[in-house]
Amino acid sequence: MVATPDLRAVFLGAPGAGKGTQAQRLAAECGVLHISTGDMLREHVKAGTEFGKKANTFMASGKLVPDDVIIGMVEERIARSDAASAGPSWILDGFPRTLPQAEALDRQLGARGVSHAVWFAVPRDVLVARLSGRRTCGQCGAIWHVDFKPTRDPSACDKCGGPLVQREDDRPQAVGKRLEVFALQTEPLLAYYRQRQVLVELDADRTPEQVFADLVAVVSGGAESIDRGNKS
Ligand code: AP5
Ligand code: MG
Repeated sequence: MVATPDLRAVFLGAPGAGKGTQAQRLAAECGVLHISTGDMLREHVKAGTEFGKKANTFMASGKLVPDDVIIGMVEERIARSDAASAGPSWILDGFPRTLPQAEALDRQLGARGVSHAVWFAVPRDVLVARLSGRRTCGQCGAIWHVDFKPTRDPSACDKCGGPLVQREDDRPQAVGKRLEVFALQTEPLLAYYRQRQVLVELDADRTPEQVFADLVAVVSGGAESIDRGNKS
C-alpha cells in the first residue's frame, strides 16, 4: 500500500481525461476515500430522487449542476469523513470545477487546505475518442473502454459481471457542450491552484500505467521530476 498521509487531493481535467480511472485505482491502493461528484449525482438519478431528476436536466445536456447544490453536497460528504476519522484522506474527483466551488472548499478546509491539485492534461481529439468508447459497469462502477480497456465479454463487467452501460452525456452533442463548459468554467482553476502552489500538471495522454506511476510519485512526495507548476 502507498503511504499518503493527509492526502486532500482534487483531480481536475476535461471530461474523459482519466480522473475517474486514476482516482478509483489510487483510492484502492492508498486506502483513501474516492469522492466523485459525478458518481454521487448519477446515484441520485438512478434512485429517481427529486434531487436526481433536477440534476439530470443539467447533466444530460452537458451543463454543470448549479454551484449552491453541488457545494452543499460536497460539504456534507467531507464533514462526514472528518467525523469518521481523525486524519481523513480523500480524493475529490470532478470537484471543484468552478471558482466559487474552489473557494467554498478552501473555506471549509481552512488552514489544512488542498494538498494536491492534479491537472490531467489531454488533447481534445483524444478526449472525444475516450468518451465515445467509454462503458461503465451499472453495478460496481468500474470504467472500461471498447478499444483502450475492453472487457472479455462486451456486455458484462470483468470485475463483477454487471451490465455495461454508456453514459447519457457521452453522446456527441453533450460531449461538445461539456468540453465548452470545461474551457469556460473549469480551466480558470489552473491559475487558482498554481497561485496557491499546490498544482501538479500531469501529461495524461499516455497509458494508464504511466499516468498512475507519476501520480503515485506525486502523492507519496517523491516527485522531483514532476513539474508542480509553481516553481517558475
Ligand atoms: P463527471 O462524472 O465528473 O464527468 P466529467 O468530469 O465530465 O469527467 P468524466 O467522468 O467524463 O471523465 P474522467 O476524467 O473521469 O475519465 P474516465 O476515467 O472515465 O460529471 C458528469 C456531470 O455531472 C457533469 O457534466 C455535470 O453536469 C455534473 N457534475 C459533476 N461534478 C460537478 C460539479 N463539481 N459541479 C457541477 N456539476 C457537476 O476515462 C474516460 C475513458 O477513457 C474511459 O473509457 C477510460 O477507460 C479511458 N481512459 C482513461 N484513461 C486512459 C488512458 N490513459 N489511455 C486510454 N484510455 C483511457
Ligand atoms: Mg469520471
